[in-house]
Amino acid sequence: MASIGVIGAGTWGTALAVLLNGNGHQTEIWSAIPEEVEELKAAHVHRNLPEVRIPETVGFTADLQEAMADKDLLVLAVPSVFVRETARKMRNYLKEGQIITNVAKGIEENTLMTLSQIIEEELPQAEVTVLSGPSHAEEVSKGLPTTCVAGARKKHVAEFVQSIFMSRTFRVYTSPDILGIELGSALKNVIALAAGMADGLGYGDNTKAALITRGIAEISRLGIDMGGKMETFAGLTGIGDLIVTCASMHSRNRRAGILMGQGRTMEEAMAEVKMVVEGVYSAKAALALSQKYHVSMPIVEQVNEILFNGMPAKEAVSELMLRDKRIENSGLEWEEE
Ligand SMILES: NC(=O)c1ccc[n+]([C@@H]2O[C@H](COP(=O)([O-])OP(=O)(O)OC[C@H]3O[C@@H](n4cnc5c(N)ncnc54)[C@H](O)[C@@H]3O)[C@@H](O)[C@H]2O)c1
Repeated sequence: MASIGVIGAGTWGTALAVLLNGNGHQTEIWSAIPEEVEELKAAHVHRNLPEVRIPETVGFTADLQEAMADKDLLVLAVPSVFVRETARKMRNYLKEGQIITNVAKGIEENTLMTLSQIIEEELPQAEVTVLSGPSHAEEVSKGLPTTCVAGARKKHVAEFVQSIFMSRTFRVYTSPDILGIELGSALKNVIALAAGMADGLGYGDNTKAALITRGIAEISRLGIDMGGKMETFAGLTGIGDLIVTCASMHSRNRRAGILMGQGRTMEEAMAEVKMVVEGVYSAKAALALSQKYHVSMPIVEQVNEILFNGMPAKEAVSELMLRDKRIENSGLEWEEE
């Protein structure tokens, strides 16, 4: 049995705490918001996971030092926009070599850093790992079969994280490709916005399949140029996460996209979804990265046009359909004519 601090009391931190508690670990959740801690302590139910009872043995605290003290593992589960400020707050309490598993998904807009790079910058004494994959909190918290990947630099650390999370319904693979895992996880949210917009416009399964397939082509092109591995983009944290986020009603990025496809502005859609829509932040970062690495990312470009330059979603689809003619995979060769 391990002692685990879950830093972040959103739906994902809560679902993972329930999973870890079920695996027999002593689990305590920290929230930056004292009122949230009081609400969770009193109800043992998260307001956005109303069907899931949080066991009495899961602890809650607003005291970060307490949440981190004597823990074998810290799970960083705050939304990506709060990762830097939370990591900074953790600095004084983190022990040398303490393992942090980041489960948030995003890229910092102004620095273009991945979240583990941010954590390493703010907490140089940490052993940073990641856990990602096609895994919605609503399903994990109900024990529906799910698969994820634990990424770490060293094999034994990845295997430690794997052993902590793995259960009868939560299967965990390991990988040394932290960068590839994080890029796939962050960039898929941009494609999910596009998939939602296509749904909102009333388009069909053909359109969805096109967005998923051409979306992973864009993500892989950029990700490989940045140092991620092809195999990772073809795996659970690449195509796997992209499929679930483009298809599921649990995806807030897709839900926001649907509203925009139906004609709402970005601000209206974000207000209606009522949760942080991370794809909106990652969209700008993805565009900046595509320019920095000179990688063609037409879907990312059009999503940015819609979000920030007022282009109607329908027009953006025409732009994509009528781009200059291309070969599907530039790595393939023709027979000589
Ligand atoms: N929800 C999922 O199914 C899921 C699955 C995999 C990964 N993720 C990733 O996990 C991360 C968290 O997602 P979520 O769904 O739990 O988000 P959420 O929207 O449920 O998180 C809201 C929570 O953020 C916390 N918060 C608010 N302000 C804060 C601040 N200033 N500092 C620190 N914490 C603050 C509060 O505890 C609040 O309840 C995201 O990056 C998301 O992409 C989510």
